[in-house]
Amino acid sequence: MSKIEIKSIVRSVGSYLPKRILTNDELAKTVDTSDEWIFQRTGIHERRIAAKGEFTSDLAYHAAIDALKNANLSTNDIDLIIVATTTPDLTFPSTAALVQQKLGIHHGAAFDIQAVCSGFVFGVATADSYIKNQLAKRILLIGAETFSRIVDWNDRTTCVLFGDGAGAMILEAKETDEDVGVLASSLRTDGADWDKLYVDGGVSSTGTIGHVKMQGKEVFKHAVSMIFDVVDDVFAKSGHNSDELDWFVPHQANKRIIDAAGKKLKIPSEKTVVTVQKHANTSAASVPLALSQAVGDGRIKKGDLVMLEAMGGGFTWGASLIRW
Ligand code: ACO
Repeated sequence: MSKIEIKSIVRSVGSYLPKRILTNDELAKTVDTSDEWIFQRTGIHERRIAAKGEFTSDLAYHAAIDALKNANLSTNDIDLIIVATTTPDLTFPSTAALVQQKLGIHHGAAFDIQAVCSGFVFGVATADSYIKNQLAKRILLIGAETFSRIVDWNDRTTCVLFGDGAGAMILEAKETDEDVGVLASSLRTDGADWDKLYVDGGVSSTGTIGHVKMQGKEVFKHAVSMIFDVVDDVFAKSGHNSDELDWFVPHQANKRIIDAAGKKLKIPSEKTVVTVQKHANTSAASVPLALSQAVGDGRIKKGDLVMLEAMGGGFTWGASLIRW
């Protein structure tokens, strides 16, 4: 018999996408590219772009409202807001503080996490630790990005890859002896390769925002083995294995990375949630957006075993296993 412990249960997920759809064909009118080139190498057909005056905190706010509605909870029920983002509204305060203000919440705490594309998975592990250490009872975790503001729209090697969006998850404490909620997480960073994927500007260096710079082949080369490492570690820590998995929800950077990681992990494509064709790479928002889609259309159900993973700038990489 397992003992009664505090577990972090997923209460709901939610999402928000800006209205404006930018297709590959439309992009091909402004940079030298084609739908065929982009789709073949990345699996992307289109992405969403935030409207002028629509900020990361606005996207995050709408995803939060959706998650609160899906959980049948009110803002009073939340005691911590964590926003994973690389594209904050302002240098400070945190985007989480701005989301808190938009939600009309005056109690509890709020802060941001910066782990680029791995931000949401780092957020799941952080939220789980806060709950298990009784620092919070019900956490609103959001991944929100406006990457359209940091890509160089004249650089065809990067601008075709990214999009804007937000996804949210509400996690809450439950004392139980069941194998439910966040079962295990694994987080890694190695700054040695920071210059393979970075933004060439910042507060303390250039005083400018900068643009995304990437050595695509290098990122690809590292991604699959890094994903394998953390997923494998999470399986080992939790005592589960890939045969038991109901759903694999990877970071949506590139369909070829998703396929190669799935193959190496022996996870069939029928169990893999893929949204990159419609969302492109929304960085920290990609995993909760994919989760929201798969929960919304009835694929992910209560009791399912779900593996989340992500890899991104830093490099950072991580995975979390959740019993829904
Ligand atoms: N349209 C048309 N041609 C292009 C484009 C484009 N959008 N971008 C590059 N090219 C050209 C290049 O200029 C090059 O031309 P050349 O041979 O005349 O010099 C040719 O296509 C091949 O370029 P490569 O960079 O070698 O293309 P590659 O096959 O490596 O594909 C890609 C590039 C898709 C970025 C690939 O490296 C990749 O998938 N990398 C993974 C990186 C990734 O997904 N990053 C997302 C962020 S990181 C993350 O979230 C994990």
